[in-house]
Amino acid sequence: MENLKLSNGVEMPLEGFGVFQISNPQECKNAVLEAIKTDYRLIDTAAVYMNEDAVGAAIKEAIDTGIVKREELFITTKLWVSNFSYEGAKKDFDCSMKKLGLDYLDLYLLHQPYGDVYGAWKAITELYNEKKIRAIGVSNFYIEKFTEFAEIVDVKPMVNQIELHPFYAQYDAIENMRKYGCIPQAWGPLAEGKHGIFTHPVLTEIGKKHEKSAAQIALKWNVQRGVSILPKSVHQERIKQNFDIWNFTLSEEDMKKIDALDLKHSEIIDHNNPEIVKYILSLKV
Ligand SMILES: NC(=O)c1ccc[n+]([C@@H]2O[C@H](COP(=O)([O-])OP(=O)(O)OC[C@H]3O[C@@H](n4cnc5c(N)ncnc54)[C@H](OP(=O)(O)O)[C@@H]3O)[C@@H](O)[C@H]2O)c1
Repeated sequence: MENLKLSNGVEMPLEGFGVFQISNPQECKNAVLEAIKTDYRLIDTAAVYMNEDAVGAAIKEAIDTGIVKREELFITTKLWVSNFSYEGAKKDFDCSMKKLGLDYLDLYLLHQPYGDVYGAWKAITELYNEKKIRAIGVSNFYIEKFTEFAEIVDVKPMVNQIELHPFYAQYDAIENMRKYGCIPQAWGPLAEGKHGIFTHPVLTEIGKKHEKSAAQIALKWNVQRGVSILPKSVHQERIKQNFDIWNFTLSEEDMKKIDALDLKHSEIIDHNNPEIVKYILSLKV
């Protein structure tokens, strides 16, 4: 497993474990414990996932039973838009830390590009300067919003977590982030199962050559282009399979074949749709 160096020198694992839509606390705790036992070190949650307590319980058990040390883990959580203000961010950070049972956080992200992003950023920049957070970043900041934001703020976002998988490659957004020293991180690296990804003929064919599944090929493609990935699964075999991608290399030809699958739009969520914007703003945490 490799690490990526963020612009402030902090090392972040290239692969992490995502817990979106694992709403059952016991299932979430079990999945995170399984992931840590499998050697995932980055765990990605968010206030809006409503499972920070379960993630915290798994972290505590993993540390208490000697599986891992706190400093070996890299924990990410995200501030939800209903708390985007200077005061709201400070308060919600404390709330997340309490639920996670942590005394410092590795990465804190502004979850969506709406509302008072500048007030929230000022607050989390202060928490970063106070060393309560090791790195700060954003999520779903698409190219125009990301550029505006990165041009204005003093401490630049170190990570931008956006939808990135073979059917939505977003090379232009990645190139733009890199100009600001920002690391791209993929949410939905398995396209949330859309577009027949797990049986896709191109991914399956390349997989046969490397004795890997279509899922493993999709994950490796992002890793090889320097994109951090956060696959989610509640199944032990898949948790292990998704981490078993470090013993092979895709050829240039393989990479080009996967690049050609790009649909250049999302089949999961359209941030340009006003109804989606209204829906995101209506969700309260
Ligand atoms: N910042 C954001 O706005 C945002 C948005 C979405 C997600 N995220 C983060 O990114 C993480 C990953 O994204 P995601 O959870 O949306 O989707 P994903 O990881 O692309 O896909 C997860 C889906 O694929 C299935 N799956 C996983 N591994 C598999 C395998 N090897 N073979 C077959 N099926 C497999 C899972 O089912 P089972 O669980 O049943 O195995 C689940 O249905 C999230 O958990 C979250 O941490 C962030």
